[in-house]
Amino acid sequence: MTAQNADDAKKAAAASAAALVKDGMRLGLGTGSTAAFFVEEVAELVKKGYSLVCVPTSERTRQQAQALGIPLTTLDESPELDLTVDGADEFDPQLRLIKGGGGALLREKIVAAASTAMVVITDASKSVPVLGRFPLPVEVNAFGLEATRRAVGRAIAAAGCVGAVTLRVNGEGHVFVTDGGHYILDCALGRILHPEKLSVLLLNVPGVVETGLFLGMATKIIVASSGGVEIIDNPG
Ligand code: A5P
Repeated sequence: MTAQNADDAKKAAAASAAALVKDGMRLGLGTGSTAAFFVEEVAELVKKGYSLVCVPTSERTRQQAQALGIPLTTLDESPELDLTVDGADEFDPQLRLIKGGGGALLREKIVAAASTAMVVITDASKSVPVLGRFPLPVEVNAFGLEATRRAVGRAIAAAGCVGAVTLRVNGEGHVFVTDGGHYILDCALGRILHPEKLSVLLLNVPGVVETGLFLGMATKIIVASSGGVEIIDNPG
């Protein structure tokens, strides 16, 4: 898929998700290149006169939404949202996700959990039979980093997975710091055969703040490709 085709697919998925937005909704705005197209769609709805309030899942998305004139709120003011629309780095046939490639997994998960529905917008390249092709991001407290990294390694082994655990750095070679002031360990696992088990084991490590495994959260996935848009509903 060319970059132009990928962008067209992302835009098509975002437009499909925008059709689910109703006047008066409280929305969660995801993070990433696909979610950014949805934010543009939301801005168009606001211009048309829709009364919407939105909670962004990252400072990056907040800046984009603010610049486009979208009314923003917080989960303190609006603790329950109707719909969150976000991208994903990977999804499997059970609509389980890996997220956090953009580093916003903690706020993304908090916002999605506060929403009645989470709609994921992707292009077809994110579909996998088994999660793990994309390195799993694990957000950790900066305190005790090396001890936490080793404990994460033990949790991974106990879940039957194997792979390198790497501290994320930014483009300038500095440690990547999340909006919450934490670090990210990227776990290159290849195949995660038991995501639920791995999730529980990782969340049991005291220094782990959150993982990029979004299990049982997506209510719908909108997958766009050159062949059109496919909508997959979570039967559960
Ligand atoms: C951000 O932290 C991620 O969870 C993104 O949702 C994910 O990386 C998808 O991003 P793209 O739409 O840019 O692929």
